[in-house]
Amino acid sequence: MARAAIMGASGYVGGELLRILATHEHVEVVLATSRRYAGKPIHYVHFNLRGHYTGLRFTNHDVNAVLRKDVDVVFLALPHGTSVDVVPELLNAGLTVVDLSADYRLKDPEKYVEWYGYEHPHPDLLQKAVYGMPELHREELRGAKLIASPGCNATAAIIALIPLIKEGLVRTDQIIIDVKAGSSEAGATPSLPDHHPEREGSVRPYMPAGHRHVAEVEQELSIISGKPVRASLTPHAVPMVRGSLATAYCIPAREVSARELMRAYTLTYGKELFVRIVKTSPHKYPNPKYVIGSNYADVSFEIESRAGIVKAFAAIDNLVKGAAGQAVQSLNVALGFPEDSGLRAPPLRPA
Ligand SMILES: NC(=O)c1ccc[n+]([C@@H]2O[C@H](COP(=O)([O-])OP(=O)(O)OC[C@H]3O[C@@H](n4cnc5c(N)ncnc54)[C@H](OP(=O)(O)O)[C@@H]3O)[C@@H](O)[C@H]2O)c1
Repeated sequence: MARAAIMGASGYVGGELLRILATHEHVEVVLATSRRYAGKPIHYVHFNLRGHYTGLRFTNHDVNAVLRKDVDVVFLALPHGTSVDVVPELLNAGLTVVDLSADYRLKDPEKYVEWYGYEHPHPDLLQKAVYGMPELHREELRGAKLIASPGCNATAAIIALIPLIKEGLVRTDQIIIDVKAGSSEAGATPSLPDHHPEREGSVRPYMPAGHRHVAEVEQELSIISGKPVRASLTPHAVPMVRGSLATAYCIPAREVSARELMRAYTLTYGKELFVRIVKTSPHKYPNPKYVIGSNYADVSFEIESRAGIVKAFAAIDNLVKGAAGQAVQSLNVALGFPEDSGLRAPPLRPA
């Protein structure tokens, strides 16, 4: 049994880690931090975990206390910029670290200046970090000590596009991605635009130029393609709590048929535990509503021949495949546990 700590456990991602790990047969959470709720029981914040799931109380944010607790694994569900100096301390102590912030996702230190506006203080560790998407990096994840868990919008976008890029079916210099995102993506700390009276019944784009997830989408798709990928991504805040739906618009690299597209998706995802191709099901296109609570990504595609556009779709639960679920999936690979440990719950319906 691996002993785990969660730093930033009072947030939405921390709560999902606690929920998922409550039924994990190989990982036990022994410490959960929060500055605001130190001393309070976990269910004081995460009401869904009332009952027998955990007897833990939050402890203060203190790296030394984590090190004293004799843990094997630390999940960092902290805001961007907060993990960056915590990671080396944990790695130096020999622990496995799964960072859910963006602090170790990008390989090129210059990209932190460009996209996040700061000089990365540990560029050497960027090379050691493995981007925590098993569908792309399963072999590198085995035994990995530092896992950089992907962003939620980036996960949906990348999973939609992998087959098209891998098989060279679309041009890589101009990919347009539209994402519909639920409010939990903004975290548990209230802000005016995400306050219920503002958000309910409204739809709005945000950060249509320079959304930071573009950096990781381009990085990962460029690795697959072997050529630089240029993408434009516009998320839209929509009135759902969970869920991320990516629609990518691509220009075919040559004439492509529906049969070729199906072949590409089947080759890439036919054996994947957590990706379902929904093209031939009654709902031919993914809907986040039918993955909620699960680690699934539902994917599909379409050709609009008249306009010369190939469209790729993916729906995820942003807090599960887009965050805590994918982090646990990657850790399972890293530690040699069954990849679906803790992740076998089917999606909710209705949700
Ligand atoms: N929400 C998503 O859909 C999603 C998806 C993928 C990745 N992520 C990433 O995962 C991380 C957590 O996201 P979230 O949505 O769970 O955010 P959140 O709900 O705002 O939770 C943040 C957590 O970090 C703690 N915290 C905040 N500032 C801190 C500081 N300066 N020092 C120590 N602890 C601090 C907070 O607790 P206290 O204030 O009580 O200490 C809380 O437990 C972020 O990096 C986010 O970008 C989020």
